[in-house]
Amino acid sequence: MQTKHDTVRLPNGVQMPKIGFGTWQSKEGDQAITAVSTALELGYRHIDTAAGYGNEKSVGIAVRNSGIPREEIFVTSKLPNSKRGYYSAFETFKQTMDNLELEYLDLYLIHWPASFHRFQDWEQINLDTWRAMTELYKQGKIKAIGVSNFLPHHLKALMETEVTPMVNQIELNPGCRQLETRAYCQQHGIVVEAWSPLGSGRILNDENLAKIAKKHNKSVAQVCLRWALQINTCPLPKSVTPERIKQNLELFDFSLDQEDLELIDKLPDFGQSGNHPDKVNW
Ligand code: A2P
Repeated sequence: MQTKHDTVRLPNGVQMPKIGFGTWQSKEGDQAITAVSTALELGYRHIDTAAGYGNEKSVGIAVRNSGIPREEIFVTSKLPNSKRGYYSAFETFKQTMDNLELEYLDLYLIHWPASFHRFQDWEQINLDTWRAMTELYKQGKIKAIGVSNFLPHHLKALMETEVTPMVNQIELNPGCRQLETRAYCQQHGIVVEAWSPLGSGRILNDENLAKIAKKHNKSVAQVCLRWALQINTCPLPKSVTPERIKQNLELFDFSLDQEDLELIDKLPDFGQSGNHPDKVNW
């Protein structure tokens, strides 16, 4: 039987809880501390933050004050775009650990690839950043390393390295299905995480998703999260609302059938934020 505590095995054997708690747009201070504390009380054991979210300190406080043994919580953070590069990655990682006040990190990701749109030497920049992360991983300061928002061509440039990416966290929801990147990751054993699994709210009024939700007596948000799990990806829903935080874990008393999955596969692309990794200005 599947449960909210199910984990996925990363390529190096580390177990990562499949459902993570997203914190993008949770404000540093009371809001983020309360949201993460509530999530941990309700059973989430995987918390996703980033230096760029500006709330690492709050995440650290909630994790440390939870009373849950450190090794039972999986904590992810990300290296910001302005800090790419070999030396910069070490300093930035140290800052993240000072913010979190934790002894080690479970997963560290390059937040966005350097891309050819902005950098002539984009491949080298990503490789240099990756080399620093690999050293931190080998020193035991990080249990697993990966990337975020990497498309197949960005990933390819890292595939000849000593330690290859274990996770790719991408924008993914029923209105943004990312077939090519998912297929590439699957072929190379890279675990896919879904940011914005609810389309940051944009897709929750869709009538097709509403039909599926009604059929299962569930909410559209739950259909989106169940879909992410059924396509073997790990959703990271964000909420600061206790009832929603709870609801977003209640995904194991129903499943989407073939008809539902086919309907979702036919939906137009309407769930994107518009931040394409090769076009963004960062
Ligand atoms: P809030 O944080 O105010 O509860 P995503 O994870 O795709 O980025 O989506 C996050 C957005 O979706 C937030 O605006 C959040 O609102 C909202 N949200 C999270 N869970 C639910 C839910 N179960 N039902 C409706 N809206 C939700």
